[in-house]
Amino acid sequence: MSSFRSFFIFWTFKYYASPMYSALRLSFLLPFLFLITKNSLAQNAVTIPIETLHNALVLQTDKENHLGITYFGKKLGSAVEYQLVTSQSRQHDGNAGTYNSAYTPAGSWNVSEPALQVTHSDGNKSMDLVYVSHKTSKENDNVTLTSIVLKDPVYAVEVTLHYKTYIHEDVTEQWSVIKSAEKGEITLNKYASANLYFIAKDYFLTHYNGTWAKEMNPEQEQLTAGMRVLDSKLGTRANLFQPPSFQLSFDKPATETEGKVLLGTLGWSGNFRMDFEVDSYHNLRLIAGINNYASEYPLASNKEFTTPSFIYTFSENGKGEASRNLHNWARKYRILDGEGSRMTLLNNWEATYFGFNEEKLSGLFKDGKKLGVDLFLLDDGWFANKYPRNNDQAGLGDWQENVKKLPHGIGYLVKEAKNAGVKFGIWVEPEMVNPKSELYEKHPDWVIKEPQRPEHHMRNQLPLDLSNPEVQKFVFGVLDKLFIENPDLAYIKWDCNAITFNAHSAYLEKSKQKQSQLYVDYVKGLYKVLEKLRAKYPKVPMMLCSGGGGRVDYEALKYFTEFWPSDNTDPLERIFMQWEYSYFYPAIAQSAHVTDWGKQPLKYRTDVAMMGRLGYDIVVSHLNEKDLQFSQQAVATYNSIKDVVWHGDLYRLVDPKENSYASLLFSSKNKDRAILFSYLTGNRNGDGSDTPFRLQGLDPAKKYKVKELNLYPETKTALKEDQVYSGEFLMTVGFNPAVSARRTSVIVEISAQ
Ligand code: GLA
Repeated sequence: MSSFRSFFIFWTFKYYASPMYSALRLSFLLPFLFLITKNSLAQNAVTIPIETLHNALVLQTDKENHLGITYFGKKLGSAVEYQLVTSQSRQHDGNAGTYNSAYTPAGSWNVSEPALQVTHSDGNKSMDLVYVSHKTSKENDNVTLTSIVLKDPVYAVEVTLHYKTYIHEDVTEQWSVIKSAEKGEITLNKYASANLYFIAKDYFLTHYNGTWAKEMNPEQEQLTAGMRVLDSKLGTRANLFQPPSFQLSFDKPATETEGKVLLGTLGWSGNFRMDFEVDSYHNLRLIAGINNYASEYPLASNKEFTTPSFIYTFSENGKGEASRNLHNWARKYRILDGEGSRMTLLNNWEATYFGFNEEKLSGLFKDGKKLGVDLFLLDDGWFANKYPRNNDQAGLGDWQENVKKLPHGIGYLVKEAKNAGVKFGIWVEPEMVNPKSELYEKHPDWVIKEPQRPEHHMRNQLPLDLSNPEVQKFVFGVLDKLFIENPDLAYIKWDCNAITFNAHSAYLEKSKQKQSQLYVDYVKGLYKVLEKLRAKYPKVPMMLCSGGGGRVDYEALKYFTEFWPSDNTDPLERIFMQWEYSYFYPAIAQSAHVTDWGKQPLKYRTDVAMMGRLGYDIVVSHLNEKDLQFSQQAVATYNSIKDVVWHGDLYRLVDPKENSYASLLFSSKNKDRAILFSYLTGNRNGDGSDTPFRLQGLDPAKKYKVKELNLYPETKTALKEDQVYSGEFLMTVGFNPAVSARRTSVIVEISAQ
């Protein structure tokens, strides 16, 4: 840049920033500024704005042609102004490539946490990436893909960064493709999906912890200088202790309706790692992707490695808007049949556990019909003969009907269910094996285990080695056989109850591949099976279960219609869990069953389950007359509101973490109808909703009436159902559903007149 230009830009900024001249700013200076910055920067700098309806991520090359992130946040009216950002941001010396790299390489100029770390075929461990080219293509009016090619100036390694934007949903899906044209094999030591850079006053990270039956406990922390890592090393699934999803607030903790917040999640059903590094300028670097723990991945000459997607949305208006963005995106673009319909069901797991036979099941089909649900779901325990599956210690892997329990086979059950007027679905856990099984006896080399160490089991079982194509074939075959023999099979619950210990693959050893491929190749193998299954059976609804919510992520949900959030169905716990899941996943994908867990009355349990895909896991014949009548009415009521719950907009209104009750509202897209769910969650001092709270998601100009739904027989509403309220009133003065110790759970329908 010539000294004259430098001086002029400096003068321009000084002048431009002065309040005295604010009125003149845009009208007078912008054309000059545009010309100057364009001329001066264009020779060196390439600016790539990646925009959605409200947001922008801006990338720019520096004088060494390194690609850096110069801006992330609310979109500007004029994209030209993004070129000004570098001069204002908190960076060390204006060398954009150092901390704010768009994909940080290890081993050359960078000394912070890398996104990419490679060992070249000659053993050298250095990597650099410079900008080569970029292109943007429109898939349709809403979806745009920007692909940026970077390459190492010394070694024949190239990375393409992909940013797929869903404009109206304000969602970006980001992944990378790493290619090598080196003669020999290179090793990927770290290979992140996404690298982002944020500049804010402070950063507040909400992450989740938990374990079996205790999923999704949020914890918020202010990020301080240095690294915070969220990760998992469980092999078969991403989560048992920590899901691959988080909230990140900028400047101050966001609320439902205010504040800058990013919701992020990784679409990968295995080990993940997310690095949050606050650098010495108090800027935040985020690197998210597959966990590189024990996972150095070989890349042969002229091959490429595609990382999973990191998916995120950003809002300046709080967590509510951000989560609705994600729901809209997920229903339209990701979850299988996300905008479609779901079936209500009766599941026999808690009603019978492993103890059933044909007669008992036929009775349950009739119970399902009596209740009014669409489908009966037969859970664990229907298979294996040499080592019958009568408890969780044997039989897993032997997918033949148990002849004692089911002498006439699954086909007979499907027919019996049909005769009773319900559809039939079935539980499988095809990736797993009990050591006490014929499968284990026949194929010990299919099992993941260390040949020289004692086996370590979880729930008496071990994962099969899905990196092995033979095992992939077997797993596909389990499902394929069921569908071929029973074309009317209407639903699958796919479980995965163990994590990976002793991560060693006999197949990788035999085929002279690297053991460090196992964690990644397991997940890839799983996706291959699911891909093949969906190619042949595109529509059959499938529930994603993993001892509860162990495997919920947006790559798996390409193949599944819904997920099981937790084995814990205590409704009080479910209010909290479903609340947290709802930041990332829409209600249509959350299976919620009425069971005997918890101390709350049946109405409370039912109301909570009605906030997801409703199901039952109870002994219907144990219900007294009133409970049965209530449940039958509840299924019918659910059918009348499910469209709003599944396809509407969710507003979390009263947070049970901060109040003695919870309240959530689903509103139809045209704002004609909303369903408000409220629950007493703590009843110290007889607390409840004693003052009105503001509703959201209505039309201020419309007139509404309220009606209480799902009343227990012989109880009356406490609401004034004749009263007409404007949307403005309900959203300004508010509404009180009158939750109290006598009315612990209340569903209200709000309808435009
Ligand atoms: C897991 C699931 C349960 C049930 C059992 C069956 O724990 O989460 O819902 O299917 O397996 O063994």
